[in-house]
Amino acid sequence: MKAKRVAWMALAALMVVGLIACQQSKAPAGPPAVPTPVPGASDEAKAPAPQGGDNAGAPSAPAESLEGELTIFSWWTAGGEADGLAELIKVFEQKYPKVKVVNAAVAGGAGTNAKAVLKTRMLGGDPPGTFQVHGGSELIETWVDAGLMAPITNLFALEGWKSAFPEQLVDMVSKDGEIYAVPSNVHRGNMLWYNKAVFDKAGVAAVPTNFDEWIAACEKIKATGVTPLALASRNKWPVLHLFENLLVEAGGTDFYRELFAGKVPWTDARVKTALEHLAALLKYVNKDHAALTWDQASGQVQQGKAAMNVMGDWAKGYYTAQGWKPGEEYDAAPTPGTGGVFFVVTDTFGLPAKAPNPDLTRAFLKVVGSVEGQLNFNPKKGSIPARTDVPRGAFDVIAQRTMDDFAKDTLVPSAAHGSAVKEAFVVEMNDALSVFLSRKNVDKTASALQQAASDTGVVQ
Ligand code: GAL
Repeated sequence: MKAKRVAWMALAALMVVGLIACQQSKAPAGPPAVPTPVPGASDEAKAPAPQGGDNAGAPSAPAESLEGELTIFSWWTAGGEADGLAELIKVFEQKYPKVKVVNAAVAGGAGTNAKAVLKTRMLGGDPPGTFQVHGGSELIETWVDAGLMAPITNLFALEGWKSAFPEQLVDMVSKDGEIYAVPSNVHRGNMLWYNKAVFDKAGVAAVPTNFDEWIAACEKIKATGVTPLALASRNKWPVLHLFENLLVEAGGTDFYRELFAGKVPWTDARVKTALEHLAALLKYVNKDHAALTWDQASGQVQQGKAAMNVMGDWAKGYYTAQGWKPGEEYDAAPTPGTGGVFFVVTDTFGLPAKAPNPDLTRAFLKVVGSVEGQLNFNPKKGSIPARTDVPRGAFDVIAQRTMDDFAKDTLVPSAAHGSAVKEAFVVEMNDALSVFLSRKNVDKTASALQQAASDTGVVQ
């Protein structure tokens, strides 16, 4: 636990645009991803109105008397993620029967479409009651720095959450001593999912642990006529998701941190190795990847059309929703070359500064942060609880392994899922990799990434 904390703090210290750097310096490291100021919004966040602000703590009215409408915004519409959200809403509705919940989910994995809709609402002064947002840069640089969130520090204290959540997660939702969101879960980003029957048939006896073994497994599988690796590039981000895994595989975690801190150029040989490895893997992917979303590519593995895919454990949520049995019909291991490393993807919920009914929002946040909420939500979502005191018995074998790894591995924040770096750069990375998919030009892509890092202020 201690080693993990040290590693995390080392990471945070190195991230120029990361959360800790922002905490240490009063000025944000780069321009906020939401450039348009909203009149009055930052005042409201700094000195919140009595109803909507920091000091209100828990909802003032007793649970059964709270009424009104609460809009919950997310992108959880696919199998597993939608089921998890439904569970959270169910727990909330049992506690607050007079509140009408509006599920305003917008389809598109990783927020492909939802983020633009949310931006329009937030900048237009019409925020939802609460919304799904990744801890780290996405929450802090996009929303908190723009003055569009109200702190929930007192709610954290009242609910005893500071001791229930790992310090690393609390850091990811904090700025300047205030806390802005409550984590609902932890997903692991570097996971290789595989169909056991397909592996057996191809004679892949051991799960690949490094790049060479991975290619050797791909060759064996290809010889049986099955697609070795399922990919979904329709919404771009799964390629970045795979690529960030390859950055660690090629250069390790210190290199990864330094890259996103702007201390190593994107033209570095290790970035090029990661791109070469990506190009090598692209020889083994499904031809229809440009038409598929993440859940469809995950489905190809389940159907035996493909052997493996690299995806966060929301894929397990999807498989659970299909009734596919973890540990029996399929299993998972760290993406080859990333053993001992844990890519953190944490979904969180906060209180918009202009939330229409802050009492209802805080009531929902209480459910999100509770043992009951996390116990009902996470097994369906595929994630592990963000709290450390949720009983393990409700979780499958893979989730239990993930809990153990989270406690001992070196943690790194995901860039593809908004924690490591500002959104403007994530968008540019997605575009550069999209071009790479067809052209496979390593040098040009490395230069394009370096240019994007400079344009967006990641490299000063
Ligand atoms: C991630 C998110 C997960 C899951 C996934 C696919 O960004 O953190 O909760 O929803 O996208 O949609």
